[in-house]
Amino acid sequence: MSSFREMCFTPNEFANIAQVDKGMVSTLESNGLLKIVRRRLGNAERKMITLEDMRDYFKAARIGRHGDHHTSGWPKHKIQMFYNVKGGTGKSTLTAQYVMKAAMLGLKVLAIDLDGQGHLTVNLDILDAHERATIYDVLINDLSLADAIMNVAPGLDLVPANLGLCNIEIPLNNKARREYRLSEAIAKIADQYDLIVADTNPAASILNGSMLVAAQLVNVICATNPLSFHGMSLVMVTIEEMEREFKHHLDVRIVPNMYDNREVISQEVLGELRTQFSENCTQTVVNRSAELNEATKRRTTVWQVNAKGVAAQDIKSLTHELLFN
Ligand SMILES: Nc1ncnc2c1ncn2[C@@H]1O[C@H](COP(=O)(O)OP(=O)(O)OP(=O)(O)O)[C@@H](O)[C@H]1O
Ligand SMILES: [Mg+2]
Repeated sequence: MSSFREMCFTPNEFANIAQVDKGMVSTLESNGLLKIVRRRLGNAERKMITLEDMRDYFKAARIGRHGDHHTSGWPKHKIQMFYNVKGGTGKSTLTAQYVMKAAMLGLKVLAIDLDGQGHLTVNLDILDAHERATIYDVLINDLSLADAIMNVAPGLDLVPANLGLCNIEIPLNNKARREYRLSEAIAKIADQYDLIVADTNPAASILNGSMLVAAQLVNVICATNPLSFHGMSLVMVTIEEMEREFKHHLDVRIVPNMYDNREVISQEVLGELRTQFSENCTQTVVNRSAELNEATKRRTTVWQVNAKGVAAQDIKSLTHELLFN
């Protein structure tokens, strides 16, 4: 199984993602608006669209070269974070799928791993992070953020994390202007990207606080179980306190994850989330699915596991909602 970097799409998959009629694909090709390559798969030669060529199509659509049959627009919030002080709610899994999907849509994306566990890094198929610079070097050793960035795939860059990042809290606490250092570093590279997304660690840490100062949108991932719901009030209070202390407005979305419509408890928690946080809850509910686990195991996108499956549908809908609504 190939990695996200080498991902290719059949004309039908492309038509589905681009929301154009299947019959349009060959017209787009003959008009020079879409590049289709021939790939040998076993004995057959098949028409395929590479990730890079699909990105070129969407980029051109965004700046209007294709007329008005498709425009995906620009992200409403350029700097976003996935957050919850509770562990294991699906932050790293959804961050990885979100940034890969945003890159598929032609955006230039920077993912930042702010968790010493390095799960976003691993989910993006980077396995040598122990040898690489992390945000620790940027915030503590004055490395420029540009020097900590690596390319992962067409349109997708990453600041990786490794275990060393777990030791950042004490040295960061001793730095002047500690909560502003991350936002100042991000500001220096922000105009090179359409979207910047951080995955955070499950704690009320100074590092997460720094990202709350840098971000415009916080996506709180809440598993649809009672303990996760119970922790939501604390999460919302923490965000409000940060907004007051740093005089910095944050938009907040709550994303229900691991939903199972066969479980009464899952239905009840979703109902309570929507009642108590009606303004913040996303329309999209991410279902519990073996496909998302499989994508994590294979370190790739849900599209490569099953392009027509429920996880691909959920990630598509979540991505559009977090980018454009
Ligand atoms: N919708 C889902 N369906 C099935 N499995 C899921 C789903 N979302 C997440 N998982 C699985 O749940 C586990 C925890 O997810 P993940 O590591 O993304 O959580 P996290 O919030 O980042 O955890 P931590 O707080 O430790 O950083 C992983 O095994 C992941 O594959
Ligand atoms: Mg995580």
